[in-house]
Amino acid sequence: MAQRHVAAFLSGLLGVLLCVPLPAQTGKHPNYDDDVKPIFARYCFGCHNASEMRSGLNLEAYSGVLKGGGSGDAVIPGRAASSLLYKAVAREEGAPQMPLGNPKIPDAAITTIREWIASGVLETATSQPKGPVAPSLDFKPTALNKPAGAPAMPQSLPPFAMDEPSRAHPVTAMAASPWAPLLAVAGHERIYLYNLNQRGPDGELSFPEGIPYALRFSRDGATLLAAGGRGVESGKVVLYDVRSGKRLGVFGNERDVVLAADLSADGQLVALGGPAKIVKVFSVADGKELYQIKKHTDWITAIEFSPDGTRLATGDRSGGIFLWEAASGGSAGNLADHKDSITSLSWRGDSQLLASGSEDGQIIVWNVADGFPVATIAKAHTPKPGPQVYGTPPGGVLSLQFTSDGRIISVGRDSTIRIWSADGKPQGASPAAGALLTKVATSPDGKLAIAGDYQGRLLVCTGTATLTCSQPAPPSTRLQVGGIIIRPSQ
Ligand code: HEC
Repeated sequence: MAQRHVAAFLSGLLGVLLCVPLPAQTGKHPNYDDDVKPIFARYCFGCHNASEMRSGLNLEAYSGVLKGGGSGDAVIPGRAASSLLYKAVAREEGAPQMPLGNPKIPDAAITTIREWIASGVLETATSQPKGPVAPSLDFKPTALNKPAGAPAMPQSLPPFAMDEPSRAHPVTAMAASPWAPLLAVAGHERIYLYNLNQRGPDGELSFPEGIPYALRFSRDGATLLAAGGRGVESGKVVLYDVRSGKRLGVFGNERDVVLAADLSADGQLVALGGPAKIVKVFSVADGKELYQIKKHTDWITAIEFSPDGTRLATGDRSGGIFLWEAASGGSAGNLADHKDSITSLSWRGDSQLLASGSEDGQIIVWNVADGFPVATIAKAHTPKPGPQVYGTPPGGVLSLQFTSDGRIISVGRDSTIRIWSADGKPQGASPAAGALLTKVATSPDGKLAIAGDYQGRLLVCTGTATLTCSQPAPPSTRLQVGGIIIRPSQ
Protein backbone atom coordinates (compact mmCIF):
# COMPACT_ATOMS: atom_id res chain seq x y z
CA MET A 1 0.00 0.00 0.00
CA ALA A 2 1.43 3.36 -0.95
CA GLN A 3 2.31 5.74 1.86
CA ARG A 4 -0.28 8.32 0.88
CA HIS A 5 -3.03 5.74 1.00
CA VAL A 6 -1.91 4.77 4.44
CA ALA A 7 -1.94 8.43 5.45
CA ALA A 8 -5.40 8.96 3.99
CA PHE A 9 -6.53 5.77 5.65
CA LEU A 10 -5.22 6.74 9.05
CA SER A 11 -6.48 10.30 8.99
CA GLY A 12 -9.82 9.19 7.58
CA LEU A 13 -10.51 6.98 10.50
CA LEU A 14 -10.84 9.84 12.94
CA GLY A 15 -8.71 8.45 15.66
CA VAL A 16 -10.15 4.97 15.95
CA LEU A 17 -6.89 3.57 14.62
CA LEU A 18 -3.60 3.22 16.39
CA CYS A 19 -1.08 5.31 14.55
CA VAL A 20 2.13 3.38 13.97
CA PRO A 21 5.26 4.47 12.16
CA LEU A 22 5.76 2.44 9.03
CA PRO A 23 9.14 1.07 8.00
CA ALA A 24 10.64 2.80 4.98
CA GLN A 25 9.75 0.78 1.88
CA THR A 26 13.12 1.07 0.19
CA GLY A 27 13.49 -2.60 -0.62
CA LYS A 28 16.98 -2.49 0.93
CA HIS A 29 17.62 -4.61 4.01
CA PRO A 30 19.27 -3.00 7.04
CA ASN A 31 22.89 -4.02 7.74
CA TYR A 32 25.10 -3.86 10.84
CA ASP A 33 27.63 -1.26 9.71
CA ASP A 34 25.23 1.32 8.29
CA ASP A 35 22.00 0.87 10.22
CA VAL A 36 22.33 -1.17 13.39
CA LYS A 37 25.73 -0.22 14.81
CA PRO A 38 24.70 3.47 15.09
CA ILE A 39 21.67 2.39 17.15
CA PHE A 40 23.84 0.23 19.42
CA ALA A 41 26.39 3.06 19.70
CA ARG A 42 23.74 5.45 20.91
CA TYR A 43 21.85 3.21 23.31
CA CYS A 44 23.96 0.16 24.16
CA PHE A 45 27.73 0.66 23.88
CA GLY A 46 27.82 2.19 27.38
CA CYS A 47 27.43 -1.31 28.83
CA HIS A 48 28.11 -3.66 25.91
CA ASN A 49 31.52 -2.72 24.42
CA ALA A 50 34.79 -4.51 23.88
CA SER A 51 36.13 -3.73 27.37
CA GLU A 52 32.88 -3.66 29.33
CA MET A 53 30.77 -6.59 28.24
CA ARG A 54 27.77 -6.68 30.57
CA SER A 55 26.40 -10.22 30.55
CA GLY A 56 29.31 -11.15 28.24
CA LEU A 57 27.80 -9.30 25.29
CA ASN A 58 29.89 -7.01 23.07
CA LEU A 59 27.74 -5.09 20.58
CA GLU A 60 30.63 -2.94 19.35
CA ALA A 61 31.79 -5.59 16.87
CA TYR A 62 29.72 -7.62 14.41
CA SER A 63 31.51 -10.78 15.59
CA GLY A 64 30.56 -9.92 19.18
CA VAL A 65 26.87 -9.69 18.27
CA LEU A 66 27.00 -13.09 16.56
CA LYS A 67 28.88 -14.60 19.52
CA GLY A 68 26.07 -13.61 21.89
CA GLY A 69 26.21 -13.26 25.67
CA GLY A 70 25.87 -15.24 28.87
CA SER A 71 22.48 -16.62 27.82
CA GLY A 72 23.69 -17.82 24.42
CA ASP A 73 22.70 -16.45 21.03
CA ALA A 74 21.62 -12.83 21.01
CA VAL A 75 20.37 -13.03 17.43
CA ILE A 76 19.03 -15.96 15.41
CA PRO A 77 19.29 -15.04 11.72
CA GLY A 78 15.84 -14.96 10.10
CA ARG A 79 13.98 -15.22 13.39
CA ALA A 80 13.57 -11.84 14.96
CA ALA A 81 10.66 -12.83 17.17
CA SER A 82 12.76 -15.59 18.77
CA SER A 83 15.95 -13.51 19.16
CA LEU A 84 16.86 -12.42 22.71
CA LEU A 85 18.26 -9.10 21.51
CA TYR A 86 15.02 -8.22 19.73
CA LYS A 87 12.90 -9.32 22.69
CA ALA A 88 15.13 -7.21 24.97
CA VAL A 89 14.69 -3.98 22.99
CA ALA A 90 11.00 -4.67 22.29
CA ARG A 91 10.65 -5.12 26.07
CA GLU A 92 8.90 -8.44 25.83
CA GLU A 93 7.96 -10.19 29.04
CA GLY A 94 10.61 -12.58 30.26
CA ALA A 95 13.47 -10.89 28.36
CA PRO A 96 16.02 -8.52 29.99
CA GLN A 97 14.59 -5.01 29.47
CA MET A 98 17.18 -3.12 27.39
CA PRO A 99 18.70 -0.57 27.51
CA LEU A 100 18.83 -1.35 31.22
CA GLY A 101 17.50 1.42 33.42
CA ASN A 102 16.76 3.64 30.41
CA PRO A 103 13.58 4.33 28.40
CA LYS A 104 12.60 2.05 25.54
CA ILE A 105 14.43 2.94 22.32
CA PRO A 106 12.35 4.55 19.49
CA ASP A 107 9.97 2.30 17.54
CA ALA A 108 11.82 3.02 14.30
CA ALA A 109 15.06 1.68 15.82
CA ILE A 110 13.26 -1.45 17.07
CA THR A 111 11.84 -1.97 13.56
CA THR A 112 15.31 -1.62 12.03
CA ILE A 113 16.70 -4.23 14.45
CA ARG A 114 13.81 -6.60 13.74
CA GLU A 115 14.20 -6.29 9.98
CA TRP A 116 17.95 -6.67 10.27
CA ILE A 117 17.53 -10.00 12.09
CA ALA A 118 14.63 -11.15 9.88
CA SER A 119 16.59 -10.47 6.69
CA GLY A 120 19.61 -12.51 7.74
CA VAL A 121 21.80 -10.29 10.01
CA LEU A 122 23.76 -8.62 7.18
CA GLU A 123 27.15 -7.15 8.18
CA THR A 124 27.48 -4.66 5.31
CA ALA A 125 25.34 -3.53 2.37
CA THR A 126 27.01 -6.15 0.17
CA SER A 127 26.96 -9.13 2.58
CA GLN A 128 25.00 -12.30 1.97
CA PRO A 129 22.24 -13.14 4.50
CA LYS A 130 22.99 -15.75 7.16
CA GLY A 131 20.61 -18.61 7.81
CA PRO A 132 17.04 -18.87 6.57
CA VAL A 133 15.57 -15.53 5.56
CA ALA A 134 12.05 -15.00 6.88
CA PRO A 135 9.45 -14.88 4.09
CA SER A 136 9.01 -11.40 2.70
CA LEU A 137 6.30 -9.34 4.32
CA ASP A 138 5.62 -7.65 0.99
CA PHE A 139 2.94 -9.74 -0.56
CA LYS A 140 1.04 -9.40 -3.81
CA PRO A 141 -2.24 -11.28 -4.34
CA THR A 142 -1.71 -14.43 -6.38
CA ALA A 143 -3.81 -15.91 -9.16
CA LEU A 144 -3.28 -19.40 -7.74
CA ASN A 145 -6.48 -21.49 -7.93
CA LYS A 146 -8.27 -18.74 -9.85
CA PRO A 147 -11.15 -20.21 -11.91
CA ALA A 148 -10.81 -19.94 -15.70
CA GLY A 149 -14.33 -18.63 -16.25
CA ALA A 150 -16.62 -16.40 -14.23
CA PRO A 151 -16.39 -17.13 -10.49
CA ALA A 152 -19.31 -19.18 -9.18
CA MET A 153 -22.40 -17.38 -7.88
CA PRO A 154 -25.73 -19.01 -6.97
CA GLN A 155 -27.89 -19.34 -10.10
CA SER A 156 -30.63 -21.88 -9.60
CA LEU A 157 -30.75 -23.01 -5.98
CA PRO A 158 -33.30 -25.64 -4.92
CA PRO A 159 -36.46 -24.13 -3.36
CA PHE A 160 -36.02 -23.38 0.32
CA ALA A 161 -39.15 -23.93 2.39
CA MET A 162 -37.95 -23.89 6.00
CA ASP A 163 -39.47 -21.32 8.37
CA GLU A 164 -37.40 -18.60 9.96
CA PRO A 165 -36.16 -19.87 13.31
CA SER A 166 -37.90 -18.29 16.30
CA ARG A 167 -34.62 -17.23 17.90
CA ALA A 168 -31.59 -15.55 16.42
CA HIS A 169 -28.79 -18.02 15.80
CA PRO A 170 -25.25 -16.93 16.61
CA VAL A 171 -22.92 -16.81 13.62
CA THR A 172 -21.16 -20.10 14.37
CA ALA A 173 -19.45 -20.21 10.98
CA MET A 174 -18.89 -17.88 8.06
CA ALA A 175 -16.88 -17.89 4.83
CA ALA A 176 -16.36 -15.59 1.87
CA SER A 177 -15.76 -16.86 -1.65
CA PRO A 178 -12.13 -16.27 -2.65
CA TRP A 179 -13.19 -14.96 -6.10
CA ALA A 180 -16.87 -13.91 -6.07
CA PRO A 181 -18.79 -11.34 -4.00
CA LEU A 182 -20.45 -14.13 -2.04
CA LEU A 183 -20.68 -14.81 1.67
CA ALA A 184 -21.96 -17.96 3.39
CA VAL A 185 -23.26 -17.58 6.95
CA ALA A 186 -24.33 -20.33 9.34
CA GLY A 187 -27.91 -20.41 10.62
CA HIS A 188 -30.02 -23.01 12.35
CA GLU A 189 -30.07 -26.06 9.99
CA ARG A 190 -29.33 -23.73 7.09
CA ILE A 191 -26.74 -21.61 5.36
CA TYR A 192 -27.56 -18.05 4.35
CA LEU A 193 -25.93 -16.91 1.12
CA TYR A 194 -25.34 -13.21 0.91
CA ASN A 195 -24.36 -11.07 -2.08
CA LEU A 196 -21.61 -8.68 -1.06
CA ASN A 197 -22.02 -6.43 -4.12
CA GLN A 198 -25.74 -5.98 -3.78
CA ARG A 199 -25.62 -6.16 0.00
CA GLY A 200 -28.57 -8.49 -0.03
CA PRO A 201 -29.63 -12.12 0.34
CA ASP A 202 -28.71 -14.55 -2.41
CA GLY A 203 -30.56 -17.66 -1.27
CA GLU A 204 -30.44 -20.26 1.48
CA LEU A 205 -29.19 -23.84 1.54
CA SER A 206 -30.64 -26.35 3.93
CA PHE A 207 -28.32 -28.20 6.32
CA PRO A 208 -30.66 -30.68 7.99
CA GLU A 209 -27.58 -32.22 9.64
CA GLY A 210 -27.85 -29.56 12.39
CA ILE A 211 -25.75 -26.52 13.20
CA PRO A 212 -22.91 -25.62 10.83
CA TYR A 213 -19.67 -25.05 12.80
CA ALA A 214 -17.40 -24.70 9.78
CA LEU A 215 -18.01 -23.20 6.34
CA ARG A 216 -15.34 -23.13 3.64
CA PHE A 217 -15.33 -22.32 -0.04
CA SER A 218 -13.13 -24.41 -2.28
CA ARG A 219 -10.04 -22.51 -3.43
CA ASP A 220 -11.66 -21.90 -6.83
CA GLY A 221 -14.92 -20.80 -5.20
CA ALA A 222 -17.10 -23.37 -7.02
CA THR A 223 -17.84 -25.62 -4.04
CA LEU A 224 -19.06 -24.79 -0.55
CA LEU A 225 -18.20 -27.05 2.38
CA ALA A 226 -20.44 -27.06 5.46
CA ALA A 227 -19.56 -29.08 8.56
CA GLY A 228 -21.36 -29.46 11.86
CA GLY A 229 -24.09 -31.58 13.32
CA ARG A 230 -25.89 -32.17 16.59
CA GLY A 231 -24.04 -32.26 19.92
CA VAL A 232 -23.21 -35.76 21.19
CA GLU A 233 -25.36 -37.23 18.45
CA SER A 234 -24.01 -36.81 14.92
CA GLY A 235 -21.54 -34.90 12.80
CA LYS A 236 -21.08 -34.59 9.03
CA VAL A 237 -19.41 -32.63 6.25
CA VAL A 238 -21.53 -31.72 3.20
CA LEU A 239 -20.26 -30.32 -0.10
CA TYR A 240 -22.57 -28.12 -2.20
CA ASP A 241 -22.23 -26.90 -5.76
CA VAL A 242 -22.31 -23.10 -5.37
CA ARG A 243 -24.16 -22.45 -8.68
CA SER A 244 -26.91 -25.06 -8.36
CA GLY A 245 -26.97 -25.62 -4.61
CA LYS A 246 -26.85 -29.39 -5.28
CA ARG A 247 -25.32 -31.58 -2.62
CA LEU A 248 -22.16 -33.10 -4.11
CA GLY A 249 -21.24 -35.42 -1.28
CA VAL A 250 -21.46 -36.20 2.42
CA PHE A 251 -18.39 -37.19 4.48
CA GLY A 252 -17.90 -38.54 7.97
CA ASN A 253 -20.38 -40.29 10.16
CA GLU A 254 -19.29 -38.89 13.49
CA ARG A 255 -20.93 -39.45 16.85
CA ASP A 256 -20.49 -35.81 17.80
CA VAL A 257 -20.43 -32.51 15.88
CA VAL A 258 -17.71 -31.74 13.37
CA LEU A 259 -16.05 -28.54 14.62
CA ALA A 260 -13.48 -27.98 11.89
CA ALA A 261 -13.15 -29.08 8.27
CA ASP A 262 -11.62 -28.05 4.95
CA LEU A 263 -11.41 -29.02 1.31
CA SER A 264 -7.94 -29.32 -0.25
CA ALA A 265 -6.80 -26.87 -2.94
CA ASP A 266 -7.33 -29.41 -5.74
CA GLY A 267 -10.75 -30.35 -4.36
CA GLN A 268 -9.67 -33.99 -3.89
CA LEU A 269 -9.50 -34.21 -0.09
CA VAL A 270 -11.85 -33.40 2.78
CA ALA A 271 -10.40 -33.18 6.31
CA LEU A 272 -12.57 -33.06 9.43
CA GLY A 273 -12.20 -33.09 13.19
CA GLY A 274 -14.04 -32.43 16.43
CA PRO A 275 -14.44 -33.68 20.00
CA ALA A 276 -13.17 -37.16 19.02
CA LYS A 277 -9.62 -35.63 18.87
CA ILE A 278 -9.00 -37.44 15.59
CA VAL A 279 -8.52 -35.76 12.21
CA LYS A 280 -9.99 -37.85 9.39
CA VAL A 281 -9.13 -37.27 5.74
CA PHE A 282 -11.41 -38.53 2.96
CA SER A 283 -11.12 -38.83 -0.80
CA VAL A 284 -13.77 -36.66 -2.46
CA ALA A 285 -13.86 -38.89 -5.55
CA ASP A 286 -15.04 -42.07 -3.81
CA GLY A 287 -15.78 -41.00 -0.22
CA LYS A 288 -13.17 -43.42 1.20
CA GLU A 289 -11.30 -42.52 4.34
CA LEU A 290 -7.63 -42.14 3.36
CA TYR A 291 -5.93 -41.60 6.71
CA GLN A 292 -6.41 -40.53 10.33
CA ILE A 293 -4.30 -38.26 12.50
CA LYS A 294 -4.28 -39.27 16.17
CA LYS A 295 -1.64 -36.89 17.46
CA HIS A 296 -3.98 -34.32 19.07
CA THR A 297 -4.73 -34.71 22.76
CA ASP A 298 -7.82 -32.50 22.77
CA TRP A 299 -10.78 -31.53 20.57
CA ILE A 300 -9.86 -30.52 17.03
CA THR A 301 -10.92 -26.88 16.67
CA ALA A 302 -9.27 -25.65 13.45
CA ILE A 303 -8.26 -27.23 10.13
CA GLU A 304 -6.90 -25.62 6.98
CA PHE A 305 -5.17 -26.99 3.87
CA SER A 306 -2.41 -24.81 2.39
CA PRO A 307 -3.30 -22.96 -0.85
CA ASP A 308 -0.52 -24.80 -2.74
CA GLY A 309 -2.04 -28.15 -1.74
CA THR A 310 1.02 -29.58 -0.01
CA ARG A 311 0.20 -29.11 3.69
CA LEU A 312 -2.59 -29.54 6.19
CA ALA A 313 -2.60 -27.49 9.42
CA THR A 314 -4.65 -28.71 12.39
CA GLY A 315 -5.21 -27.07 15.77
CA ASP A 316 -6.79 -28.19 19.05
CA ARG A 317 -8.49 -26.99 22.23
CA SER A 318 -5.25 -27.18 24.26
CA GLY A 319 -3.31 -24.89 21.92
CA GLY A 320 -1.52 -27.57 19.89
CA ILE A 321 -0.92 -26.96 16.17
CA PHE A 322 0.53 -29.55 13.79
CA LEU A 323 1.49 -29.50 10.13
CA TRP A 324 1.01 -32.55 7.92
CA GLU A 325 1.80 -33.67 4.39
CA ALA A 326 -1.64 -33.24 2.85
CA ALA A 327 -1.41 -36.27 0.58
CA SER A 328 -0.16 -38.82 3.10
CA GLY A 329 -0.74 -37.44 6.59
CA GLY A 330 3.00 -37.63 7.27
CA SER A 331 4.23 -35.31 10.02
CA ALA A 332 5.55 -31.95 8.77
CA GLY A 333 6.00 -29.98 11.98
CA ASN A 334 4.76 -28.89 15.35
CA LEU A 335 3.97 -25.25 16.10
CA ALA A 336 4.02 -24.99 19.87
CA ASP A 337 3.46 -21.64 21.59
CA HIS A 338 -0.23 -21.22 22.27
CA LYS A 339 -1.53 -21.87 25.77
CA ASP A 340 -5.25 -22.15 25.14
CA SER A 341 -7.70 -23.30 22.49
CA ILE A 342 -6.84 -22.59 18.85
CA THR A 343 -9.87 -20.84 17.38
CA SER A 344 -8.63 -20.16 13.87
CA LEU A 345 -5.90 -21.03 11.37
CA SER A 346 -5.29 -19.22 8.08
CA TRP A 347 -2.58 -19.58 5.41
CA ARG A 348 -1.18 -16.67 3.44
CA GLY A 349 -1.77 -17.07 -0.31
CA ASP A 350 1.83 -18.19 -0.97
CA SER A 351 1.64 -20.96 1.68
CA GLN A 352 4.77 -19.59 3.43
CA LEU A 353 3.06 -18.09 6.46
CA LEU A 354 0.36 -19.52 8.71
CA ALA A 355 -1.56 -17.33 11.16
CA SER A 356 -3.11 -18.82 14.29
CA GLY A 357 -5.55 -17.25 16.73
CA SER A 358 -6.19 -18.55 20.24
CA GLU A 359 -8.29 -18.02 23.34
CA ASP A 360 -4.94 -17.25 25.04
CA GLY A 361 -5.24 -13.82 23.40
CA GLN A 362 -2.36 -14.27 20.96
CA ILE A 363 -2.15 -14.14 17.21
CA ILE A 364 1.01 -15.89 16.01
CA VAL A 365 2.30 -15.71 12.45
CA TRP A 366 4.44 -18.76 11.72
CA ASN A 367 7.19 -19.22 9.16
CA VAL A 368 6.12 -22.63 7.90
CA ALA A 369 9.61 -23.44 6.58
CA ASP A 370 11.23 -23.54 10.02
CA GLY A 371 8.24 -23.63 12.37
CA PHE A 372 9.21 -20.44 14.19
CA PRO A 373 7.07 -17.36 14.74
CA VAL A 374 7.65 -14.41 12.43
CA ALA A 375 5.45 -12.32 14.70
CA THR A 376 3.62 -12.75 17.97
CA ILE A 377 0.82 -10.35 18.83
CA ALA A 378 0.50 -10.96 22.55
CA LYS A 379 -2.70 -9.16 23.44
CA ALA A 380 -4.56 -8.86 20.18
CA HIS A 381 -8.10 -8.41 21.51
CA THR A 382 -8.08 -7.35 25.15
CA PRO A 383 -11.45 -5.83 26.12
CA LYS A 384 -11.50 -2.66 28.17
CA PRO A 385 -12.21 -3.60 31.80
CA GLY A 386 -15.72 -2.52 32.84
CA PRO A 387 -16.39 -0.72 36.12
CA GLN A 388 -17.33 -3.95 37.89
CA VAL A 389 -14.49 -6.02 36.44
CA TYR A 390 -11.28 -6.60 38.36
CA GLY A 391 -8.10 -7.95 36.87
CA THR A 392 -7.50 -8.43 33.16
CA PRO A 393 -10.58 -9.53 31.24
CA PRO A 394 -10.07 -12.53 28.94
CA GLY A 395 -8.81 -11.32 25.58
CA GLY A 396 -9.28 -14.33 23.34
CA VAL A 397 -8.95 -14.25 19.57
CA LEU A 398 -12.08 -15.85 18.08
CA SER A 399 -11.48 -15.79 14.33
CA LEU A 400 -8.86 -14.56 11.89
CA GLN A 401 -8.05 -14.64 8.21
CA PHE A 402 -5.21 -13.69 5.90
CA THR A 403 -6.55 -11.28 3.28
CA SER A 404 -5.70 -11.81 -0.39
CA ASP A 405 -3.08 -9.04 -0.12
CA GLY A 406 -1.27 -10.55 2.85
CA ARG A 407 -2.71 -8.66 5.82
CA ILE A 408 -4.47 -10.35 8.74
CA ILE A 409 -7.95 -9.49 9.92
CA SER A 410 -9.24 -10.74 13.26
CA VAL A 411 -12.06 -10.53 15.79
CA GLY A 412 -11.97 -11.39 19.47
CA ARG A 413 -13.42 -10.84 22.89
CA ASP A 414 -13.11 -7.06 22.65
CA SER A 415 -15.90 -7.17 19.99
CA THR A 416 -13.62 -5.29 17.61
CA ILE A 417 -12.41 -6.07 14.10
CA ARG A 418 -8.66 -5.52 13.89
CA ILE A 419 -6.30 -5.46 10.94
CA TRP A 420 -2.61 -6.34 11.16
CA SER A 421 0.35 -6.46 8.85
CA ALA A 422 1.93 -9.91 8.49
CA ASP A 423 4.66 -8.82 10.93
CA GLY A 424 2.06 -8.08 13.58
CA LYS A 425 1.74 -4.32 13.41
CA PRO A 426 -1.73 -2.86 14.04
CA GLN A 427 -3.09 -1.27 10.89
CA GLY A 428 -6.70 -0.61 11.69
CA ALA A 429 -9.63 -1.30 13.94
CA SER A 430 -13.37 -0.92 14.01
CA PRO A 431 -15.28 0.73 16.82
CA ALA A 432 -16.32 -1.92 19.35
CA ALA A 433 -19.53 -3.64 18.26
CA GLY A 434 -22.56 -4.00 20.50
CA ALA A 435 -22.37 -7.79 20.55
CA LEU A 436 -19.58 -10.35 20.64
CA LEU A 437 -18.10 -10.75 17.14
CA THR A 438 -17.64 -14.46 16.53
CA LYS A 439 -16.36 -14.82 12.95
CA VAL A 440 -14.53 -12.71 10.39
CA ALA A 441 -14.07 -12.90 6.62
CA THR A 442 -12.89 -10.64 3.79
CA SER A 443 -13.99 -10.07 0.22
CA PRO A 444 -11.77 -11.34 -2.62
CA ASP A 445 -10.11 -7.94 -3.11
CA GLY A 446 -9.50 -7.52 0.63
CA LYS A 447 -11.47 -4.28 0.71
CA LEU A 448 -14.46 -5.53 2.69
CA ALA A 449 -14.21 -6.94 6.17
CA ILE A 450 -17.23 -8.81 7.37
CA ALA A 451 -17.91 -9.93 10.91
CA GLY A 452 -20.70 -12.13 12.22
CA ASP A 453 -21.93 -11.69 15.76
CA TYR A 454 -23.37 -13.68 18.61
CA GLN A 455 -26.88 -12.47 17.82
CA GLY A 456 -26.80 -13.64 14.21
CA ARG A 457 -26.09 -10.26 12.67
CA LEU A 458 -23.54 -9.23 10.09
CA LEU A 459 -21.28 -6.22 10.22
CA VAL A 460 -20.09 -5.31 6.71
CA CYS A 461 -17.12 -3.03 6.82
CA THR A 462 -15.93 -1.14 3.81
CA GLY A 463 -14.60 2.16 2.88
CA THR A 464 -13.18 4.76 0.60
CA ALA A 465 -10.80 7.54 1.54
CA THR A 466 -13.83 9.44 2.77
CA LEU A 467 -15.92 7.63 5.32
CA THR A 468 -19.17 6.28 3.93
CA CYS A 469 -21.04 3.69 5.91
CA SER A 470 -23.60 1.50 4.25
CA GLN A 471 -26.66 -0.04 5.80
CA PRO A 472 -27.58 -2.76 3.33
CA ALA A 473 -30.83 -4.69 3.45
CA PRO A 474 -30.67 -7.69 5.77
CA PRO A 475 -30.59 -11.10 4.07
CA SER A 476 -33.27 -12.32 6.44
CA THR A 477 -35.21 -10.88 9.33
CA ARG A 478 -32.69 -12.52 11.63
CA LEU A 479 -29.58 -11.30 9.89
CA GLN A 480 -29.28 -7.55 10.16
CA VAL A 481 -26.48 -5.55 8.66
CA GLY A 482 -24.62 -2.52 9.86
CA GLY A 483 -21.64 -0.83 8.28
CA ILE A 484 -18.29 0.56 9.31
CA ILE A 485 -15.26 1.46 7.31
CA ILE A 486 -11.91 -0.15 7.39
CA ARG A 487 -10.04 0.53 4.20
CA PRO A 488 -9.77 3.07 1.38
CA SER A 489 -10.25 2.12 -2.24
CA GLN A 490 -6.94 2.34 -4.08
C1 HEC B 1 23.11 0.50 31.67
C2 HEC B 1 23.76 -0.67 31.15
C3 HEC B 1 23.15 -1.33 29.95
C4 HEC B 1 22.73 -0.77 28.77
C5 HEC B 1 22.74 0.68 28.36
C6 HEC B 1 22.31 -1.87 27.93
N1 HEC B 1 22.45 -3.05 28.57
FE1 HEC B 1 22.02 -4.88 27.86
N2 HEC B 1 22.53 -5.72 29.62
C7 HEC B 1 22.97 -5.03 30.73
C8 HEC B 1 23.09 -5.95 31.84
C9 HEC B 1 23.54 -5.60 33.25
C10 HEC B 1 22.68 -7.20 31.36
C11 HEC B 1 22.50 -8.47 32.15
C12 HEC B 1 21.20 -8.29 32.92
C13 HEC B 1 20.21 -9.35 32.83
O1 HEC B 1 20.50 -10.42 32.31
O2 HEC B 1 19.06 -9.09 33.28
C14 HEC B 1 22.36 -7.02 29.96
C15 HEC B 1 21.93 -8.04 29.14
C16 HEC B 1 21.65 -7.89 27.81
C17 HEC B 1 21.31 -8.95 26.93
C18 HEC B 1 21.25 -10.43 27.30
C19 HEC B 1 22.60 -11.02 27.09
C20 HEC B 1 22.70 -12.42 27.58
O3 HEC B 1 23.08 -13.30 26.78
O4 HEC B 1 22.36 -12.65 28.77
C21 HEC B 1 21.07 -8.43 25.71
C22 HEC B 1 20.68 -9.16 24.43
C23 HEC B 1 21.27 -7.02 25.82
N3 HEC B 1 21.61 -6.71 27.11
C24 HEC B 1 21.10 -6.12 24.78
C25 HEC B 1 21.23 -4.76 24.94
C26 HEC B 1 20.94 -3.81 23.89
C27 HEC B 1 20.53 -4.19 22.46
C28 HEC B 1 21.13 -2.58 24.41
C29 HEC B 1 20.90 -1.27 23.73
C30 HEC B 1 19.61 -1.06 23.13
C31 HEC B 1 21.53 -2.75 25.79
N4 HEC B 1 21.57 -4.08 26.08
C32 HEC B 1 21.83 -1.70 26.64
C33 HEC B 1 23.26 -3.70 30.79
C34 HEC B 1 22.97 -2.77 29.81
